[in-house]
Amino acid sequence: MAGDNDGAIEAWNTVLFEKFVRFRRIVTDGFAEHGARPLRERPYSAGESVLDVGCGFGDATLVIAEQVGTSGRAIGVDCGAGFIQLAEREAQELALIRPSYFVADAQRDELGGPYDHAFARFGTMFFASPLAALRNVRKSLRTGGELTMVVWRRREDNPWVYEAERAVRSIVPVVDPEASAQVHCGPGPFSMAGADLVSDLLKAAEFTDISLTRTDCDICVGQNTDEAAEFAMALGPAGEIIRLAGSEGERLRPQVSAGLRRLFEQYRRADGSIWASSSSWAVRARRKSSAADLST
Ligand SMILES: C[S@@+](CC[C@H](N)C(=O)[O-])C[C@H]1O[C@@H](n2cnc3c(N)ncnc32)[C@H](O)[C@@H]1O
Repeated sequence: MAGDNDGAIEAWNTVLFEKFVRFRRIVTDGFAEHGARPLRERPYSAGESVLDVGCGFGDATLVIAEQVGTSGRAIGVDCGAGFIQLAEREAQELALIRPSYFVADAQRDELGGPYDHAFARFGTMFFASPLAALRNVRKSLRTGGELTMVVWRRREDNPWVYEAERAVRSIVPVVDPEASAQVHCGPGPFSMAGADLVSDLLKAAEFTDISLTRTDCDICVGQNTDEAAEFAMALGPAGEIIRLAGSEGERLRPQVSAGLRRLFEQYRRADGSIWASSSSWAVRARRKSSAADLST
């Protein structure tokens, strides 16, 4: 149905989960500083409750759990059951500070709460209906509770994915995801890149005090050009173009791989590893008091 996440949820439970597991180190190390900065600049306090939306493997949830301590609650939610099972298993091995996790569609399902805060590191860009999802997250916050979501800024400032996408587009015929029989991740990593668009969405979802802070840092996309090319061919817009092109995408793989290896040469450091710039927004917004809240 239009506006639901069923196809995307299937993708996050199957093909995308497998790819994230395969490239877990690159993904989580690459995402780390973008999430760590807002958590460092405005750490959560002991005793607070925080929902981590689209928590994936749960490594940011863990940082949050350390901040809120044993008197607080750090809870990760993800629509991918595989991510949650892995995160839960790894949390079992922790001594004192243990986040908890549950599987849900953050757009549609009951998220519990009321939480003091919601946090998301690249977990809010894939909703079929971002407004419905932001409203649902808002509902899970206490009045005045704060949402912090880290989202990618514009493609041009993220050459680690954008240049790979352009290289692949020049070789592989692009299939419209909606016309493809294959499941896909939904709107995609740059769906919240526009500062005005994301502010308007938050306003419409009844958030207030909206601010955006930019983080730029280089990220490692492979220990060498081969790994960087493999990573690009698996994940992100480039990987999705190849996958959605089906057998034609498979046939063109050797050509794409050669093109990507050539592309990543320019980003090679002395030790052979590949580093390219990346850029995100940390978007903050507070749940507005509703008329009902004010009358109580
Ligand atoms: C790019 S990954 C980010 C994962 C994690 N936050 C991190 O930084 O490593 C996006 C995550 O959002 C989750 N996701 C996508 N759509 C969702 C939805 N409708 N409800 C809950 N989680 C969702 C995916 O399963 C995936 O784990």
